[in-house]
Amino acid sequence: YRRLRVALLGAGAVGSQVARILLQHGEELADRAGASLELAGIAVRDVDAKRDVDLPKELFTTDAESLIVGSDIVIELMGGIEPARGNLLLALNSGADVVTANKALLATHGPELFEAADQVGASVYYEAAAAGAIPIIRPLRDSLAGDRVVRLMGIVNGTTNYILDRMDGEGADFGEVLADAQRLGYAESDPTADVEGFDAAQKAAILASLAFHTAVPLEAVHREGITRITPSMIKEARAAGFVIKLLAVCERLIVDGAESISVRVYPALVPRSHPLASVHGANNAVFVEAEAAGSLMFYGAGAGGVQTASAVLGDVVSAARRHIAGGVGVGESTRANLPTVPIGSVITRY
Ligand code: NDP
Ligand code: HSE
Repeated sequence: YRRLRVALLGAGAVGSQVARILLQHGEELADRAGASLELAGIAVRDVDAKRDVDLPKELFTTDAESLIVGSDIVIELMGGIEPARGNLLLALNSGADVVTANKALLATHGPELFEAADQVGASVYYEAAAAGAIPIIRPLRDSLAGDRVVRLMGIVNGTTNYILDRMDGEGADFGEVLADAQRLGYAESDPTADVEGFDAAQKAAILASLAFHTAVPLEAVHREGITRITPSMIKEARAAGFVIKLLAVCERLIVDGAESISVRVYPALVPRSHPLASVHGANNAVFVEAEAAGSLMFYGAGAGGVQTASAVLGDVVSAARRHIAGGVGVGESTRANLPTVPIGSVITRY
């Protein structure tokens, strides 16, 4: 097989699992990709940090830029805006395809990255950026490209679902379950992103952009988190036959006779008989309603290192296939997240 040089940025909950699988199942992945995926190095902040996964010490570096230049595929799993943004621009401008799970970056700088990729004929892959292991980016962008999505609704943050589920099921304490979610690798490095709904809003912006073929800016997403939800609210909801879930709702609306879209994230009362009430732990579920397809449901692990690594590695295989095909044909449309059919307006009041 032709050898492709793969650079990994980040070896935390997700990155360490991606590195482990690449090293352990390299031959199998090579057969699927049609190329040998050589892990050239792993950029981190602290090369001596203790990690859950035992990885070869010689792979670690703090010099991300030297690792990136000359790589064919760059996997970004550091999180945050900088240096992730700068590193991915460097990767694209050096001719690499990039794979990222960084929804914070994509929801704010996605168009800049897609534009940079377009300029050099490279691709940005981001299946892991929404709903963890659940395939939802490709279905929206590719499988439903011939249909017309009218509504997308669901649970897109694993940490808050884990917290609300344990508060509901066992009367667990918010702070204790949040600490468990952090220990289990579900939470963002700053968990405010989870509990205040920022993470879900970023994912909603990405999903709505794909579903409705228009750029949905993060500022247009109505956002409420779960920090004002008290144990007594959860108890009262239970007594009335409801469960509280943090929902993301993206839909087409007619406002003043013009087609608009509304994207919002907020804690909602869900009847216990509704399928979303049965989404437990760090799982996610997304319902999509399309004019021709009707209702579709996507369900599975929404967070977790190894689960998310599955989506990341699927992207790596896709990137490798595209790379060896000369960057044409088999790949992703990097323009998928740019406005193609501008919709009248994205409404910001509800
Ligand atoms: P972690 O915080 O566990 O790991 C981050 C890694 O990036 C660490 O290895 C850290 O190095 C490295 N890093 C951070 N900043 C820098 C920097 N400035 N320079 C070099 N290395 C840096 O994050 P996760 O693995 O949980 O998440 C990674 C990405 O995946 C994020 O974008 C997140 O939103 C996304 N994601 C996470 C999911 C999850 O369930 N955890 C699910 C879906 C997406 P060091 O180890 O030395 O500190
Ligand atoms: N912190 C995120 C969550 C990780 O809990 O859903 C997955 O995107």
